[in-house]
Formats: sequence, C-alpha cells, structure tokens
Amino acid sequence: MRITTGIKGLDQLIQNGFPLHTVILLSGGPGTGKTLIGLNFLLEGAKKGEKCCFVSFNESKADLLRALKGIESLKEAERFLGKNLAIEHIALGEHITMKKFIEIVSRYPKIDRLVIDNVNKLLMFAESKQAYRIALAELVRYLRNFGCTLLICETEKDAIDTGNGEAFECDGVINLSFLEFEEKPKRILEIHKLRYTAFEPKVPNELVIDSKGIRLSGTRII
Ligand SMILES: Nc1ncnc2c1ncn2[C@@H]1O[C@H](COP(=O)(O)OP(=O)(O)OP(=O)(O)O)[C@@H](O)[C@H]1O
Ligand SMILES: [Mg+2]
Repeated sequence: MRITTGIKGLDQLIQNGFPLHTVILLSGGPGTGKTLIGLNFLLEGAKKGEKCCFVSFNESKADLLRALKGIESLKEAERFLGKNLAIEHIALGEHITMKKFIEIVSRYPKIDRLVIDNVNKLLMFAESKQAYRIALAELVRYLRNFGCTLLICETEKDAIDTGNGEAFECDGVINLSFLEFEEKPKRILEIHKLRYTAFEPKVPNELVIDSKGIRLSGTRII
C-alpha cells in the first residue's frame, strides 16, 4: 500500500506514493515550500477520511490557516479541522525534548498522516549531538507505527539535512531548493532516497506553488 503525496505529478515518479509505515525527511531552505507541502499532504489524506495531524514548532495555527487561505486547493482544509485534521502548535519558547515530544504524539492513538515542522527545533534542545542522534533514531522508529510521517528539516545551502544524520535515519529524503534559471529562479524538488521504491534519484523536477495549488510542472531541469 502506498500513501499518496498530494502533489500532482509526484506519485507517478515513486510507484504511486510513499511506502506505508515510513518517515520521510522533507528538507530545504527558507521559502522553498516545506510547510505548504506538509499541509497539502495532510489535506490529501483528510479528504479520504484519514486521521491527520500537523505538529508545528514554527507558525501558530492562525498563521497556518492564513497560508492555507491563499491557495485555492488548500482552502478546504479548514472544514476538516476538529474532525480528522488536527494542528498542534508548540510555541517557540517551550523547552521540548525528544522524549516529551514522543509523549505528545503518543496521545493520538492512530495517526495515518503526521507532519512535524520541524526537526531543527528538537535539535536546538538536545543536550549533545550524540544524544540528538540517538533520540532521533528512537523517534523515527516510533513514528513508523503511523501510516506516514513527513519530518520537515530546515537546511542551509545545498545540504539535504542538518548534518546530524536525519537523512540516514529517515526512510526517504525529498529535498527542495531554488535554482537560478535564466532570469527567473525556479523551485526544484529532488528525491534523494526512498526505501522500498524504484525511482530515479536526484532528478531536478520543477515544483510550482501558485494561488491554485502545488504541483510538479513535468519539466526536469537538467
Ligand atoms: N498564494 C500563493 N501564491 C503563490 N505563492 C505562494 C502563495 N502562498 C505561498 N506562496 C509561496 O510559498 C512560499 C512559502 O512556502 P512555505 O511556507 O511552505 O515555505 P517553507 O519552506 O516552509 O519556508 P520556511 O523555511 O520559512 O518555513 C512563499 O514564500 C511563497 O513564495
Ligand atoms: Mg515552513
């Protein structure tokens, strides 16, 4: 069974979606579209009646709703709120250890789709890099009980994770970036890793985010 991504044009590149019981790292720089892709992924599931949860360490629920309103295909997310779509906001000042975080997600008995925005916040509160890596491995193992998790990761320059093992621990890695293309920069989506799946790695697919929605244009930027 596969978990459809919600991004038009992406599922067909990865054997119809993400494998069940996997944790996928969704990494990229500022403004590349991580949060919107996360929300879009949940809306895709919510429409099918799946139980979906967005855990935000960044934007508040009101901020996220505001972002949803600006995009036609995401507008309808609001009507699933309080039903099968939950948004949990954990404010920035709050000290959040990985253990405490696992406690929060374990309050939900069965989640089909989970988005965590973002793992960098858990790194900030780790006692050491080694402690973070151990806790991260434990978290990923725990999250595999759910249908599919998108673990969002803020990255710098051309990196695909923070350099602390996220890309190794997760079952898949989708990286977003901007490419200076002639006069107009383009958004790029690359699949670096996806366990249990036949796909072409690291092909730069053009990602489009506009007032209508989120999709791959079908153009490969080589
Ligand atoms: N209605 C819209 N029409 C066109 N583009 C939009 C619209 N709403 C958002 N965007 C684009 O999406 C970008 C924000 O995407 P998103 O918040 O998902 O990025 P992000 O990768 O999560 O960024 P950050 O790392 O700062 O959290 C905006 O900078 C804008 O370019
Ligand atoms: Mg974001």
